Amino acid sequence: MGVIIRGTLDWVAGRPLVVSFEVTDSCTCWCKHCDHGGPKDEGRNLKPAEYRRYMEVLKPCVVQVSGGEPLLRSDLVEIVRNIKEPSGLPYTILVSNWSLMTEERYLELRAAGVHQFSVSLDFPDERHDEFRGHPGLYEHLSALVPRLAKLGYDDIVLNSCITSENVGEINAMADKAREWGVNICYSAYSARRTGCRDYFLNTPEQVARLNQELDRVEARRDGTNWIVNSTTTLNGTRRYFEKGGAPGCSAGLRFLVVTARGDLQPCSMQFRRYPLQGQSRMVEEFTRENRCDQCYVSIRSYLDKNFPQLLWENVSEFFTFKSRRARLAQLGPAGQ
Ligand SMILES: C[S@@+](CC[C@H](N)C(=O)[O-])C[C@H]1O[C@@H](n2cnc3c(N)ncnc32)[C@H](O)[C@@H]1O
Ligand code: SF4
Ligand code: SF4
Repeated sequence: MGVIIRGTLDWVAGRPLVVSFEVTDSCTCWCKHCDHGGPKDEGRNLKPAEYRRYMEVLKPCVVQVSGGEPLLRSDLVEIVRNIKEPSGLPYTILVSNWSLMTEERYLELRAAGVHQFSVSLDFPDERHDEFRGHPGLYEHLSALVPRLAKLGYDDIVLNSCITSENVGEINAMADKAREWGVNICYSAYSARRTGCRDYFLNTPEQVARLNQELDRVEARRDGTNWIVNSTTTLNGTRRYFEKGGAPGCSAGLRFLVVTARGDLQPCSMQFRRYPLQGQSRMVEEFTRENRCDQCYVSIRSYLDKNFPQLLWENVSEFFTFKSRRARLAQLGPAGQ
């Protein structure tokens, strides 16, 4: 219940409910759809102890630890420990490509307080390696993910970003999640990150394929919430691709990004930067004027709602743990 109380206080105070800490700009991959990729200068990154101060000021109920590739930080466990409060808050999600994940690190990160592991998967086979510029990644995932899933913590979610390249694989990726014993959450490609429209769904045929695939996904739901996105979110994804945008973004107010060097940014694709104490200025200067509709990442589908709707969807499902976890899991590739 702590998440709901904290979330309510955040909403009323105009603080972000979700903060995404991009703990590094460097990455182990070179994905076709992303502007990170490869090594970057790490000299001015925040140190683990500095994250505590960000938590004291921003007080989010949900934190995403992301990047770049967060597992590149050898002090990642220390960062998570500094983010966590004795109460167990915030609900903490590690968003990663898992190229550097091992059983030992998974268990250490769980013990430090990570509630959910979001693992990016763009194809249900070796095309994943090609898309991510990382030979051997799919083989690594196909050995490790099912092995860690068998430990039984039910905290692994595949994150599949829908693009023109993989729109026909939406159900095949769900098959893979089933085979590996984990959950799946879909997100939507945004051209804003790289400026490249090739991976957007640009033709009526691609949009028709999306609708066919998502119709099948809807038919595969069962009581377990292994398909993490709500129907509302998947319908929002359909509209986003059909219309070429999704208006009504609350970036900077309901969610924000903290860069590796400690600046606040409205989202990972808007580069207006503010100091830690500058959130209200960001809301005045950016959020109130923002007309950008160029993504429909899960964080938006969740947080652009009005407060009664958001609260109702949480409270009504609170007593079913799996449902609640699935709701929080919708935040998977958020703000990215
Ligand atoms: C930026 S990555 C950072 C964490 C980690 N490196 C990973 O790939 O999971 C977070 C998520 O953003 C997604 N992503 C990357 N480029 C995107 C884009 N142009 N539009 C939407 N999502 C994107 C990735 O597929 C991934 O699931
Ligand atoms: S999507 Fe993730 S893994 Fe791929 S380049 Fe971007 S940050 Fe790296
Ligand atoms: S719609 Fe909002 S979250 Fe998405 S890129 Fe634009 S400002 Fe960022």
